Amino acid sequence: MAEAMPLRKKELSSPLLLANIGQLLTLRTPGKSSGPRRGPELNDVGLIKDAAVLCSGGKILAAGEQREVLRHPARKKLKPREVDCGGRVALPGLVDSHTHLIFTAPRLVDFEHRIAGATYEEIAGAGGGIRASVEGVGKASKKTLAGQALARLDEMAAQGTTTVEAKSGYGLSAEAELKSLEAIGDAADRWPGTVVPTLLGAHVMPEEFQSKPEKYLREVAQKMIPAAAKRKLARFVDVFCERGAFTVAQAEQVFEAAQKHALGVRAHLCQLTATEVWPLLRFNPASLDHMDHVMEEDIPQLARRDIVVTLLPGANYFLGLEEYPPARRLIEAGVAVALATDYNPGTSPTSNLAFILSLACTHLGMSPAEAIAAATINGAHALRLGSEKGSIEAGKDADVAVFDVADYREVPYWFGVNRCWATVLRGALRLKA
Ligand code: NIG
Ligand code: FE
Repeated sequence: MAEAMPLRKKELSSPLLLANIGQLLTLRTPGKSSGPRRGPELNDVGLIKDAAVLCSGGKILAAGEQREVLRHPARKKLKPREVDCGGRVALPGLVDSHTHLIFTAPRLVDFEHRIAGATYEEIAGAGGGIRASVEGVGKASKKTLAGQALARLDEMAAQGTTTVEAKSGYGLSAEAELKSLEAIGDAADRWPGTVVPTLLGAHVMPEEFQSKPEKYLREVAQKMIPAAAKRKLARFVDVFCERGAFTVAQAEQVFEAAQKHALGVRAHLCQLTATEVWPLLRFNPASLDHMDHVMEEDIPQLARRDIVVTLLPGANYFLGLEEYPPARRLIEAGVAVALATDYNPGTSPTSNLAFILSLACTHLGMSPAEAIAAATINGAHALRLGSEKGSIEAGKDADVAVFDVADYREVPYWFGVNRCWATVLRGALRLKA
């Protein structure tokens, strides 16, 4: 990017004071609940005017009205670097809780076919789609994959994102899936933000296993999952449940293995077709993602649990679909929703979470406040990081995004342009050049 030099982990986070913040969105918990936000709580961004944030050692020491923060005893003692935010808007660093970070090349042939009228499923059936990304990942070295991943993480940080969930999923063999996870780990070690790795070995059935799906499922359950767990390469296991990918019964097999190896679970569900989700609820997934075609009868079950439903409207936009995820129906029913980019070469090639917030407002009927809560505190809950991330409160990680706007509603208002002015990743400051 033509912006500031990328930050690296070794730049230890020294004390920092963000001063002269026009609007600080704390996203502090409004009530007593410590779970994800739902219903009217999504509209409460915890706005404080004329504010400041004091951080040290990668944590927030104090956040609130500037005159109070400036009196904090640590300010005198630590002599923090002071950054004048010039009346701009500061919010919790954005949490991108669904990305396919590891792939080598854009899928331009798919892009042109779609423009010419082919659907996602037709393209996949003709040899495009997910399988078209497998050769590149198989051939690439871990070093190449890690370098690309790091560049993408830096691009995200430049746009206000400080926490990223990163999936494998274009390897489709034990070797290439584990290599992808290792690359995610290497990139994460060199990035000051937070990366949550997910194994998506069950993304699509590889060509050579089409006639023997059980054999591939054994690869996932008996090789990939145990190795990823043992080597601590993944925190979650994901599965793409869809016509042409995996069935719910197959997803159950994958989740059983994940559970056995103490990994969390999440799933791609109901993206293109309706599927009943209840058989997966016993695994207590952290998040169910897409959910465009969620069945009415499953909604009350989701509302009763702390499962986050992560909406990915970037995929609808890029596939040129007329329908968008049913955000209003879910929110009104009390389901906790999050928003993420779904960054991937086939359906959502964007690293810009603020653009997704814009889509959420214009196409999903979410208010700017709801969209921001969905991409901060609820994104954190979707990754089971709600006690460390997603709000600006003393004791939480020092993850902050400062946007060059005067009113927080401008964050989703301006689209197709990066308004992020500064990002703080666990206390490390990245200023726009
Ligand atoms: O979330 N749906 C499955 N996975 C991706 C698409 C991956 C691809 O087309 O490469 C998604 O949309
Ligand atoms: Fe996805």
